[in-house]
Amino acid sequence: SAKINHQDHLEIGGCDVTTLVQKFGSPLYILDEETLRTACRQYRESFQRYYQGEAQVLYASKAWSCLAVCAIVASEGLGIDVVSGGELYTALSAGLSPEKIYFHGNNKSRQELLLAIQSGCTIVVDNWYELRTLVELAGEGDKETTRQGEEFFLTLPLSHSCSPIRIMLRLTPGIECHTHEYIRTGHLDSKFGFDPGDLDELFTFVSNQSALNCVGLHAHIGSQIFERQPHQDLAAVMVQWLSKAAGYGLSITELNVGGGLGVKYIESDDPPSIEEWVKPICEVIQTACAQENLPLPKLLCEPGRSLIASACVTAYTIGSSKVIPDIRTYVAVDGGMSDNPRPITYQSVYRTVVANRMSVPCTETVTIAGKHCESGDILIKNAQLPKTEPGDILVVMATGAYNYSMASNYNRLPRPAAVVVANGEANLILQRETYEDVIRQDCLPERLKS
Ligand code: LLP
Repeated sequence: SAKINHQDHLEIGGCDVTTLVQKFGSPLYILDEETLRTACRQYRESFQRYYQGEAQVLYASKAWSCLAVCAIVASEGLGIDVVSGGELYTALSAGLSPEKIYFHGNNKSRQELLLAIQSGCTIVVDNWYELRTLVELAGEGDKETTRQGEEFFLTLPLSHSCSPIRIMLRLTPGIECHTHEYIRTGHLDSKFGFDPGDLDELFTFVSNQSALNCVGLHAHIGSQIFERQPHQDLAAVMVQWLSKAAGYGLSITELNVGGGLGVKYIESDDPPSIEEWVKPICEVIQTACAQENLPLPKLLCEPGRSLIASACVTAYTIGSSKVIPDIRTYVAVDGGMSDNPRPITYQSVYRTVVANRMSVPCTETVTIAGKHCESGDILIKNAQLPKTEPGDILVVMATGAYNYSMASNYNRLPRPAAVVVANGEANLILQRETYEDVIRQDCLPERLKS
């Protein structure tokens, strides 16, 4: 819900972005609650419309994990996918019920596994090492659980010793899709998941483990995907796996097709809508299950980017500029690769506007530079902007996914604040870090003190 107000300023969720920066400082992440809630509803309603069985949408919290975001998606009925003890702790602290938390990761530590067991969430097992560790931990019972898990959970209610441990198995489907090499995960040489060639051995193993309750199968093929075919192929392959499980007397009732739906960062991006993504997946699963004479599984998916990317913008203050005649003009902002590492990491592209000059014609082509000591710290190349001055507010659009969650303190920049806006009200959801925060973990040994 963005518009231009009578002062020619950008307004989001009824809040003037320029005023927000005056109040909360910059850089500032601005999360539009309504956009996030709308995306959650589009996922839920699409499954209601097109899937005849039970469905559960999980938010992939790696996209942006913090208490407020978890609370908003949970209030829309979504569950949460976590990939570390830290994300699990955040989801539990936000009040998520463990039945709606799924724990991923290709190298979960012993401690993280204990935490997961203790909390009662579902563990998405990635490999044989993890599977064997789980069997071992289940055998050791509560003793180690309390010893090692304790310190993390002092303040959290626990559903303790929920044996058997609820697990899913993650498989690598061998499906290629067109996205950046670093965020492709479904191809066979991916670091994630079991080889489907291991299925027989896996099903035999888990069917003999009374400590493990294997409820489902999982796969994720990549991120920022615009094609629809790969997920349909995936759905078909997963039903084949499901029918295989039936032969082992395993009651595997859940299929999780992962996340990956892409979003529009720039004008030429043309991803399918949420509904267009969900519908064919449901159809493929329903048709394949009918053919195989299988009951419909509970269908899960775990989008991150397509839920939250478009719900947030980052506001910066413009500072210095440098004109290199006939070559390029750099305009620098007060953040950069520490609050948005995506351009330098994946050559990602973004759209931008000047929040206090919304109707001024774009007459300049400039390169938006960050403030880090690194020439590659460029947020946007060749952006079309109106003429700007120091103090203007530059807004980069669609920064909700993998921005705050991948932010760093590079060059010891304090991480930005974030606000959630709705109906003209803005509430802080992440405090701006202070210089005290920046040195909080530093230790100065006695002998180094002067
Ligand atoms: N499930 C699993 C197992 C995943 O690994 C991921 C993303 C998702 C779900 C959510 O995918 P999404 O719906 O957001 O595409 N940092 C990169 C993206 C890495 C994605 C990692 N896994 C970026 O900024 O583009």
